[in-house]
Amino acid sequence: MQKILVTGSAGYIGSHTCLVLLQAGYAVVGLDNLSNSVAHSLQRVQQLTGKSMDFVIGDVRDEICLTRLFAEHKIDAVIHFAGLKAVGESVRQPLSYYDNNVLGTLKLLAAMQIANVKRLIFSSSATVYAAAGRPRFFESSPLGPSSPYGWSKLHAEQMLLDLATSDAAWKIALLRYFNPVGAHESGWIGEDPNGVPNNLMPFITQVAVGKLTELAVYGGDYPTPDGTGIRDYIHVMDLAEGHLAALAAIETLQQGATAINLGSGQGSSVLEVVSAFEAASGKTIAYKIAPRRAGDISDYFADAELAATLLHWRTKRSLADMCSDAWRWQRQNPQGFMV
Ligand code: NAD
Ligand code: UFG
Repeated sequence: MQKILVTGSAGYIGSHTCLVLLQAGYAVVGLDNLSNSVAHSLQRVQQLTGKSMDFVIGDVRDEICLTRLFAEHKIDAVIHFAGLKAVGESVRQPLSYYDNNVLGTLKLLAAMQIANVKRLIFSSSATVYAAAGRPRFFESSPLGPSSPYGWSKLHAEQMLLDLATSDAAWKIALLRYFNPVGAHESGWIGEDPNGVPNNLMPFITQVAVGKLTELAVYGGDYPTPDGTGIRDYIHVMDLAEGHLAALAAIETLQQGATAINLGSGQGSSVLEVVSAFEAASGKTIAYKIAPRRAGDISDYFADAELAATLLHWRTKRSLADMCSDAWRWQRQNPQGFMV
């Protein structure tokens, strides 16, 4: 049985990925400093799967913690989710982003090298692409992030490319996620943001449950069919399964480090998401058209063909599934994981 270290395991994407790993028969060791999550998410993962996993509360920047972890567990591969992800916060606190996302990755790689663990799946983001390459982003599209968060991901990618060039024993998948939304179909785990959500889907679900009064639609004058921004939304369970596919395919990757988009290949506008959510939930979402949000791009979506070719993976779940699963999670857990 292969043993996988999952950093950031208690978070949104990490918890869903731990679930699919356990279901697929992997042994899992989670590591999380709980800066943006609660360990209770992993108790629920274990309840849902009927399987147990190891969990260490610790920081990826803590060398002693990593050394002990790799000594205690014979790890076959690492999935590295741990990091900070709020674009606006990264503009205000760039050093925290370089510290957590770049230095955190560097410390993890150093510990992996010492432990001779050379299989890594890295959480990158569509935010590494330059707006000039839009709307369809290929892995070869021009790069050029517009925030410190995006740069922290691109710097980490470069570090991983350099490492793989220096030592052919490394196999690294740089997975560039588009917009993950939704929750496990049980409604038992899901996205639990702190404070007022920055992202569209959790904002909509909190309007639906009565915690927020009205959605501000950022921009109604984009050059898109209905004037609102277009993104490639991907169900978090499809994304989790994408990691499983990457683990299965990692030995077959020709390059040492390979960038691969994980998206559906289709764009949806903000108003299309609102309509799909209303249809899935039976709720009316109050909204108003507000000014554009600084830093937003009008429209982009993934070219998802490389993932199909290299990982034999495509998304399976629809926008309606994303909305009904996000709504089930929010309805059953109006206070998130607070129990
Ligand atoms: P999340 O905040 O829910 O999960 C990240 C987890 O990492 C949290 O549990 C947090 O406590 C932990 N963490 C943060 N810094 C840490 C550190 N130094 N040491 C140990 N643990 C630490 O976020 P998520 O949405 O699950 O995102 C997971 C990864 O995917 C992140 O790297 C993020 O940048 C990337 N990503 C997310 C999105 C998205 O929209 N959610 C899109 C593209 C990429
Ligand atoms: N939006 C609104 N109102 C809101 C929130 C969002 O209209 O209250 C709009 C945005 O303007 C955008 C769309 O909804 O058009 C999606 O916005 P999100 O904030 O949900 O997501 P982003 O596309 O801005 O960014 C997300 C993550 C990034 C990640 C990126 C990858 O937040 O970390 O997806 O594509 F890098």
